[in-house]
Amino acid sequence: MPAATLERSPGIIDQLPEGTFRVPFRIHRLQPKDISAYVRIMRAGIASLPFADSGQLEKRTEQYYRERINKEEWALLVARDERGAIAGVLEGEIAPNRFSASIQWIVTDPLKRKKGVAHDLYTHYETILREMGVQYMLATVDDANEASLNFHQKYGFFMKEPYKRLSNTSSLYYKDISGA
Ligand SMILES: CC(C)(COP(=O)(O)OP(=O)(O)OC[C@H]1O[C@@H](n2cnc3c(N)ncnc32)[C@H](O)[C@@H]1OP(=O)(O)O)[C@@H](O)C(=O)NCCC(=O)NCCS
Repeated sequence: MPAATLERSPGIIDQLPEGTFRVPFRIHRLQPKDISAYVRIMRAGIASLPFADSGQLEKRTEQYYRERINKEEWALLVARDERGAIAGVLEGEIAPNRFSASIQWIVTDPLKRKKGVAHDLYTHYETILREMGVQYMLATVDDANEASLNFHQKYGFFMKEPYKRLSNTSSLYYKDISGA
């Protein structure tokens, strides 16, 4: 499709900084039929990080997500590519008072990285959160996770000073989404 046609399709395209265009990934809430694929991608992503603690991996079973799939405080999102294959997954948790919401984990299929999957998952999650009146998005990022640090910085996250050092190896980052 010529770029001129795409340009007239608001909501269908994203403009990248370089001035090129791409079709966004399709994002939807986790459906029961996708739980095993969701868990496989999530667990493979966590297991690939040398600094992720084993408890994070062990608790993310199919049962863990089955218990959360219909709960309002959990946002379990799936990104699909143009062929319908799952390209990435996001697990978000909304605080009971709806003041803030965290990204517990986000994982992009290793073959589909740096194509905007995480960006589209975050954008969709942010839209859900804004509609709920949530003011801050929170993410814990390991200091050694260069891809995640760069991604969060690019997406507009800042280090949250009082919680700058959550542990010896990670920090809390936030994005204020209370404005326009
Ligand atoms: C972090 C992660 C989710 C990013 O997903 P993604 O779909 O590749 O990210 P996007 O394409 O939307 O964003 C791309 C931006 O993120 C940053 N980024 C992504 N991968 C990067 C890498 N390997 N090195 C440096 N920066 C990287 C860059 O700023 C990049 O922008 P650019 O393409 O213009 O350079 C992905 O690398 C991943 O699944 N990692 C393993 C799991 C993980 O670490 N999750 C985060 C836990 S907090």
